[in-house]
Amino acid sequence: MEHKGFTLWFTGLSGAGKTTIGDMILERLQASGAKAEILDGDVVRTNLSVGLGFSKEDRDTNVRRIGFVSGLLARNGVICIVAAISPYKAIRDEIREQHENFVEVFASCELDALIERDVKGLYKMALEGRIPNFTGVSDPYEPPTDPEIMFRSDLEAPEISADRVWDKLVEMGLISP
Ligand code: ADX
Repeated sequence: MEHKGFTLWFTGLSGAGKTTIGDMILERLQASGAKAEILDGDVVRTNLSVGLGFSKEDRDTNVRRIGFVSGLLARNGVICIVAAISPYKAIRDEIREQHENFVEVFASCELDALIERDVKGLYKMALEGRIPNFTGVSDPYEPPTDPEIMFRSDLEAPEISADRVWDKLVEMGLISP
């Protein structure tokens, strides 16, 4: 498969489907022979950003580091998928400016559904006040105003969201399956 180097940046609250859809796209890309990688917030925080917490300053550092690495990969022809809450619009826009090809995907989901789902049990703890500065509960999240792609994980099946992301990449001329 022919493709350009680009960053596919998933932003959204914890549990909204960033990693799920990002992994699905990664699998499809790799199955098609594309050079692709994923930088996942949970994973990055165990190595590249180990020691960072969840203050605005630490999140900005974490997100900027991810953006720096994704920019290096993308400009060398790799497809870099990012799955990080990346709550602040200004930082995401700053990273967009550093890229030739940047595709922002807003993983959207009603907070009620996230609390109901609570895969990691973090929302329950956050609502009980046991995790300070938890995004969406006690810390801000600034949604994208003009993302290239948006999906609602509480309203559609993952395959449908993944198809939409894939179709948009084809439409933008970034991949040619
Ligand atoms: S970001 O804000 O810096 O972009 P990132 O995506 O790397 O966040 O990490 C988010 C993950 O860290 C969540 O999915 C969750 O598992 C965990 N986490 C732990 N504490 C918090 C918190 N206070 N707010 C949000 N996520 C948290």
